[in-house]
Amino acid sequence: MRIGVLASGGGSNLEAILAAGIPVAVVVVDRACPATELADDAGVPAELVEWNGDRIDFTHRVVDALERHGVELVAMAGFMRILEKPIFDAFPGRVLNTHPALLPSFRGAHAVEDALEAGVKITGCTIHVAVPEVDAGPILAQEAVPVLDDDTADTLHERIKAVEHRLYPDTIKRFMEANS
Ligand code: GRF
Repeated sequence: MRIGVLASGGGSNLEAILAAGIPVAVVVVDRACPATELADDAGVPAELVEWNGDRIDFTHRVVDALERHGVELVAMAGFMRILEKPIFDAFPGRVLNTHPALLPSFRGAHAVEDALEAGVKITGCTIHVAVPEVDAGPILAQEAVPVLDDDTADTLHERIKAVEHRLYPDTIKRFMEANS
């Protein structure tokens, strides 16, 4: 199954997916970011689809980039844009996401900060099938991460990412096996 990874940031989840030997056909980024270099180093094509303020048009251009590379499964890995219906129509039930909290708690782009603010003692990460509603959709895997008394958003996020780096590739592999 050919995988397309969508990334905007540090790309550590992309790195974990590549290190797990998952066959990535293309990396799509919406901005200049380290994920592009990771793709280059791994010999994987990277496509830059620049944000133009129009979510539907942007989504169509992301779908075009994925389809040009024959993608069958999409893995969002720190992609910081909200995508619209066209991607869920093009890849029905085949868009995955990792979120740095135990959904349905702490949806949105500030999940780690929001968990700290709420004073929860346990948070974690969730791997799920993405749907048009943000940070919703069938949950495939979750793992808890304790919040420590002296945690900052950065230290907590780093520990959550360490779990994502194992759980996301494992879940993608399981999903591929179950759906191929
Ligand atoms: C991850 O924690 C992901 O869950 C969140 O953003 C982070 C991306 O990290 N949406 P990276 O770019 O993969 O290093």
